[in-house]
Amino acid sequence: MQVEAMRADGAEDTLVEATPLTPFLGAEITGLDLSRDVTPVEAERVRELFYRHQVIAVRDQEISPEGFIRFAEIFGAIEPFFISSYNHPEHPQIYVLSNVRKDGKPIGRDGAGTHWHSDSTFVEKPSSVTLLHGVEVPARGGDTLFANMYDAYDRLDPETRSLIDGRRAIHRYQRKEFVFSGDRELTEEQKAEIEALKRKRQAEEAATAPSPTAQKSNSVPEQRHPVARTHPVTGRKALYLNDEMMVGIEGLDDDVAMPLLRRICEEATMPDRVLRFKWRKGDLVAWDNASIIHSATFTPPEEARVMHRLTVEGTVPV
Ligand SMILES: [Fe+2]
Repeated sequence: MQVEAMRADGAEDTLVEATPLTPFLGAEITGLDLSRDVTPVEAERVRELFYRHQVIAVRDQEISPEGFIRFAEIFGAIEPFFISSYNHPEHPQIYVLSNVRKDGKPIGRDGAGTHWHSDSTFVEKPSSVTLLHGVEVPARGGDTLFANMYDAYDRLDPETRSLIDGRRAIHRYQRKEFVFSGDRELTEEQKAEIEALKRKRQAEEAATAPSPTAQKSNSVPEQRHPVARTHPVTGRKALYLNDEMMVGIEGLDDDVAMPLLRRICEEATMPDRVLRFKWRKGDLVAWDNASIIHSATFTPPEEARVMHRLTVEGTVPV
């Protein structure tokens, strides 16, 4: 369906609109049909809505892997793929997240990103935008949580702000699968189920050769990024956090830095300020890593989940 219209003055208009998902973060975008390429006018409108709402969801889309790549490119250049066990077979820049196993082997990465984080903060130029497409979504579980880091920065008390302004946090990659520290709504039963699953996966992993992902992650040196960064597009200040991979703050003793980081992460992700996105098949979600942190949540193993993920190149955070 063609959604452009001509205005009386001859300028192109679009029907692309945003409906907020919460009062503090996120919007559903309507008026887009991603079974075809977006027009330049639509792309401009999507970018504008994206930087305003920080997380956008385009629901119920029939989108091919090629179409998904072209849509992601409206935010910038797609990050080159690194060899892993989970690249899409025909489009290796698409990373597959899944709990599905075929012939005993996982078809995608499982249990990752289950803590509050911005993506790939352990590299020099972390991803600017991440996009997920829900290829197969579970009836239960598998929600994605989002928190607004402009808001979290603005809510800091003056003393905390003066303590972190101008300082850099040390980010170091850690294997953190099946952590689920981002979700504060887990029941005791779910926690036990997660522990059992984690032990099972760790035992399986110990019995096989290290994957390319595991080998690469062992060689990543630590990075230093501002605790509060200035957004490269909007110019606004935002906290820049990775709850499980920040290991200190430059110039502060660890016994001061670590409780401080833990506290600001906790305050930044108060449950009443969190967007809990419940996926439907065909949903496409994009988020702004420079102003958002996110966390995956638990998917019961009997529920199939297959997500395609693309990331857009970022700049050095300042
Ligand atoms: Fe992530």
